Amino acid sequence: MFKIKIEPDQCIGCELCVNDCLTHDLELIQGKAVARHQNCFKCGHCIAICPQKAVSVENDDMSEIKDFEEGTFTIEPETFLNVVKFRRSVRHYLDKEVEREKIEKIIEAGRYTETASNSQGVTYIVLQKEVPRVRELATKQLKTLIEAGYNLQGLNLDEGDFLLRNAPVLILTVSKNKVDAGLAASNMEIMAVTQGLGAFFIGFFVRIANKDQAIKEILEMGPGEEIVTCMAVGYPKVKYYRTVPRKKAKIRWK
Ligand SMILES: Cc1cc2nc3c(=O)[nH]c(=O)nc-3n(C[C@H](O)[C@H](O)[C@H](O)COP(=O)(O)O)c2cc1C
Repeated sequence: MFKIKIEPDQCIGCELCVNDCLTHDLELIQGKAVARHQNCFKCGHCIAICPQKAVSVENDDMSEIKDFEEGTFTIEPETFLNVVKFRRSVRHYLDKEVEREKIEKIIEAGRYTETASNSQGVTYIVLQKEVPRVRELATKQLKTLIEAGYNLQGLNLDEGDFLLRNAPVLILTVSKNKVDAGLAASNMEIMAVTQGLGAFFIGFFVRIANKDQAIKEILEMGPGEEIVTCMAVGYPKVKYYRTVPRKKAKIRWK
């Protein structure tokens, strides 16, 4: 069990935390905010909203908490939209190792992504040295599926590593909640791009890996665990000069 601590000496009774608490787990007693610990799922809003820095969670690493600094992370809307528009699925990689710090930063972007009920239940699997073994198993499995009539959707089996595209790193998400994992994966892809890396999602691999016992053993998948996304990461060997066309958005304004 965790404990939300509100320092009475620092609390000024402004009620910002009380009013922002989704689960109504905070109340004002004699002019000071107090945690009830009934329905709290530790979303941390009380920590983030307190102008007095009076709130903390016992036993959590509070040294990770960052104060907002005006101007340090403002992104221009057009810049953000361009990041989204210019992101491409990169399927050609340099034979170059990806630094561990960059991989950790990608995962950090996943870790800080929102989750339903703040469950934070996404697990990340990073494959580097095991990529060749996993590639061999997955390719064999895919060939078996194709023989059984599986739709290859234009993939060419003679294209070398047609499945993993010689990517040096694979980052997988495992989660009960697929939306949580998908959101984390999307932020992770953007984080990869901002660090000069390329990435692409490999749905084919997810389908195969979730059915292949040998791959699941390498990934140390527990009973009932499911891979939701697999993202290849590496230094791009290709450069894209412009954006691509997209269908018009189907919008229902009501
Ligand atoms: C969930 C998902 C699964 C995908 N699976 C594969 C895959 O197995 N192999 C592949 O080459 N590309 C895969 N892609 C990449 C898509 O083909 C690509 O995003 C799409 O063609 C648009 O191109 P762009 O990403 O460059 O904009 C996948 C993308 C998503 C979002």
